[in-house]
Amino acid sequence: MIAQKDLLIKAGEMGYAVPAFNYSDIWDLKAIIEAAEEERAIIMVSANPLVIEAFGVELNAAMGKAVMEKASVPVLLHLDHSFSEEMCYAAIDAGFPSVMMDASKYPLEENIKIVNRVVDYAHKRGVIVEAELGRIRGKGIEGDFTGDDFLVDPAECVTLVKESGADSLAIGIGNAHGFYKGKPELNFKRLEEVNNAVDVPLVLHGGTGIPEEDIRKAILGGINKINVGTIIHCTYMNNLKAELNRLPENPYTLDVMKPVREKIKEVVKGWIRSCLCTNRA
Ligand code: 13P
Repeated sequence: MIAQKDLLIKAGEMGYAVPAFNYSDIWDLKAIIEAAEEERAIIMVSANPLVIEAFGVELNAAMGKAVMEKASVPVLLHLDHSFSEEMCYAAIDAGFPSVMMDASKYPLEENIKIVNRVVDYAHKRGVIVEAELGRIRGKGIEGDFTGDDFLVDPAECVTLVKESGADSLAIGIGNAHGFYKGKPELNFKRLEEVNNAVDVPLVLHGGTGIPEEDIRKAILGGINKINVGTIIHCTYMNNLKAELNRLPENPYTLDVMKPVREKIKEVVKGWIRSCLCTNRA
């Protein structure tokens, strides 16, 4: 297993980002790992709370432990977007080496207090914690915010990092989860301001749909981890559907999944290259 604390710091020093891929089950998890091995890349694999609820934290942790130990490249299992402290504690107890405590919907003071409690618990057990500031669209908590209201405040970032002890920070700079409506408008000036103000690795959520040139600009601007989810599960589901339509009745699971896995691998490899993460293992 890799020293998780140094993973994103090293990426920042070397000028790439670690892609964090959301998996839904063992099939896409396996495809993601194979793609990383073929690209010789360092990656993170992320379970979101829905996946945790579907399989249970123990099974996710066991799958993650197996891939972290057995993959031929460094892989770090991560709990993505936990909105609850309890889920973070359960994941840490089960063996997750990295968790995200997303308390960004709360006022700054409350966000700090919640993240700080998780950091306290996590650091004693050698686990790293990602926090979030700014409003990343697409989680159903957008309210009436528009334009600059979505952007993270650099001064708040400084306060949160200092007072919470978070190891990395996800920031809202115009990014959104899911497919973008129109071209994503990332605010690189705001990214620069945040990067100048804080010294922890910065995380960009909502990778799906961001053009490669903007991904590269974001990395240059200080982003060290990029989350990619929607394109993984859509590639999975759309190709699964196509395979099922193509095959006769009563197909065998492994026959269906073989070409589907290859499609997922292609997408994952593309993201690894966009993140300049090939041959970093
Ligand atoms: P996308 O689903 O937009 O790629 O975002 C994933 C993400 O940010 C998970 O935290």
